[in-house]
Amino acid sequence: MLEKVESLMLAQVASLESARSVELFHKVPKGKRLRAKLILKIAGASADALKLASIVELIHAASLLHDDVIDDANTRRGQSSINAEFGDKTAIMLGDILYSKGFSELTLLPKEVAYSVSNAVALLSVGELLDVELSATFNDNKESYFDMIYKKTASLIEASAKSAALLVGKNSDIYALYGKNLGLAFQIIDDVLDITQSSEILGKPSLNDFKEGKTTLPYLYMYEKLSLHDQQILLSLFQKTLNENEEAWIKEKMNETNAINLSINDARRLGFEALEAIKDEEDVGLASIIKEMIERNF
Ligand code: IPE
Ligand code: IPE
Ligand code: MG
Ligand code: MG
Ligand code: MG
Repeated sequence: MLEKVESLMLAQVASLESARSVELFHKVPKGKRLRAKLILKIAGASADALKLASIVELIHAASLLHDDVIDDANTRRGQSSINAEFGDKTAIMLGDILYSKGFSELTLLPKEVAYSVSNAVALLSVGELLDVELSATFNDNKESYFDMIYKKTASLIEASAKSAALLVGKNSDIYALYGKNLGLAFQIIDDVLDITQSSEILGKPSLNDFKEGKTTLPYLYMYEKLSLHDQQILLSLFQKTLNENEEAWIKEKMNETNAINLSINDARRLGFEALEAIKDEEDVGLASIIKEMIERNF
């Protein structure tokens, strides 16, 4: 089924009749397609479900093109990022093309689906803005972190699950709650992996978040538990390109304070809450999606 999603994505870009756009689109490697899999699990493989899955993956790809400019990231999905290879301008414009094409295709789906997904993209953008603004100074507030990750990541996963449910007449509130909790867990795990995995395994730069000023959940737990003296050391490393010793110090303190495990536990708890939301629904394999999204290495 995923091949159909791939060919729809390409067809949507090709319909713009811009050879350069198609050429650039081919330079964007395929991701894990987790959002597409989620939609197809909930809504089956009808023409509308496949279309929705392809639109959401186009939109998600657009968000990553812009995100890599914002985060100054030079790799993505195991290759040079578009901004690194062709410059920020090209990455922004290709992102705009994929976003707008996604929106124009959305208008061909039922109105509530189009509204839900396009509104989630507005929230995603608000979330990216919050992420950047929160990283201007050392954020030690968990509530701001959760609000920001809800917007930048969970909103689109929530809208994906909700609109898939809408397409097949399932209870959309229940699937929205499932998607929201799953999305929060997903970003927490992304933030954990930034610290625990190598750039090679991730296919994108590791230990990049703190350098960009992002105090993700593991940093929030760690900071809470550090001695005053170690808190000062951590603050002195904020937004810096770290040398080997400094990287090792952060990883050691992450271990000592149990910050990684505490974060993973939060993600697992949110995963359970997601499952709890759909416990009375027909079993279409959404527990395995949770497992795939939480117990992962990249
Ligand atoms: C990366 O998303 C951005 C986040 C929201 C954490 P994915 O991990 O789903 O990226 P791809 O699509 O598989 O590359
Ligand atoms: C990005 O979060 C989420 C988006 C909305 C694109 P990150 O900045 O943590 O995503 P990665 O780690 O670069 O994939
Ligand atoms: Mg990023
Ligand atoms: Mg980012
Ligand atoms: Mg990340």
